[in-house]
Amino acid sequence: MKKILVSTGGGDCPGLNAVIRAVTKSAQHSGEWEVWGSMEALNGVMQDPPDLIRLTDENTAGIHVKGGTILKTTNLGNPLEYPVQQADGSWVKMDITPKLAERIRSLGFEVLINIGGDGSQRISQALWENGLPVIGVPKTIDNDLHATDLTFGFTTAVQIATDSFDKLVTTAESHHRVMIMEVMGRDAGWIALQTAVAGGAEICLIPEIPFDLEKIMETIRERYKTGRGFVNIVIAEGAKPKGGKVIGVRSGNKAEEHIKLGGVANYLRVLLEEAGCPAQVRATILGHVQRGGTPVAFDRILATAMGVKAFELVEEGSWGRMVSFKNNEVTSVAFSEVEKQPKLVNPDHYLLRIARSSGISFGD
Ligand code: F6P
Repeated sequence: MKKILVSTGGGDCPGLNAVIRAVTKSAQHSGEWEVWGSMEALNGVMQDPPDLIRLTDENTAGIHVKGGTILKTTNLGNPLEYPVQQADGSWVKMDITPKLAERIRSLGFEVLINIGGDGSQRISQALWENGLPVIGVPKTIDNDLHATDLTFGFTTAVQIATDSFDKLVTTAESHHRVMIMEVMGRDAGWIALQTAVAGGAEICLIPEIPFDLEKIMETIRERYKTGRGFVNIVIAEGAKPKGGKVIGVRSGNKAEEHIKLGGVANYLRVLLEEAGCPAQVRATILGHVQRGGTPVAFDRILATAMGVKAFELVEEGSWGRMVSFKNNEVTSVAFSEVEKQPKLVNPDHYLLRIARSSGISFGD
């Protein structure tokens, strides 16, 4: 039997387990391949002894319904910038992908299926360039990859955010309050935009359109003309005022390099209060709730289709490619063609036009 290694890297995302199950089922049916999982992204293969799990119909049965990943994941230990201790005790970041590719081969694997976001796919490409057959499967709740129209996890995140939004509408209405709900998405406003349209927000603030406080106040004043209004605002974590900066702090853990976005809802609350907002303002930050729980049906289907496609690429020997969903087709794209910049909300995007026409202000 030939052996496939599967790994899930970066942040978790509803649908990862459905991909793992689909790869395992397809391989089992082929009768030619065994599937193994590396625990905690590719850290599992780097350990001695390696931390691997044989994936079978038995231990993957029904997992498509569960959020998270049975293989666990991490965004620490990036092999492209791996901290290696020097003889003098200092630490230097090194690209250990050549060693990692060799290690995976030496464990008898013919191919790696690497399920992950932009960071993980950069690792996929590096391993492929080091001679390891690799197939990538994209994931992110942010839906910010150019190479695919959709990523699984995004629709679930939008559903969770919309359910939360609906709950905030009834409390805004009861108290005549301004309620601000902050959603994830990093530099992209996709979750915020879709949630605002689905929920019927009065105001939606996204990173791509820096906001003007006075414009937001105009919308709010208009809603309170009769004295008994209410306003629901959706704000993306990466939104910022015109000429201002994103709100976030560096982690206290030195191994985490990215600025952790979060808190712009509270920042906006204070700005509105100081500007004389005619109502009380409250802020809710949804955070990781958006990544948890069971995937919605669409994400289970998309993730299953992507897992099946990944195995088809294995059977064809089409290495160095990432599965993608384009124009309603599950297809694939070469790693070399995967754009490194995030896919942002384009000013001409049809959904922006629809949002504006349905009365949503973007604070611009
Ligand atoms: O990329 C997915 C995402 O959930 C972003 O929306 C968010 O900014 C980030 O990950 C949070 O990362 P972490 O789980 O490391 O805090």
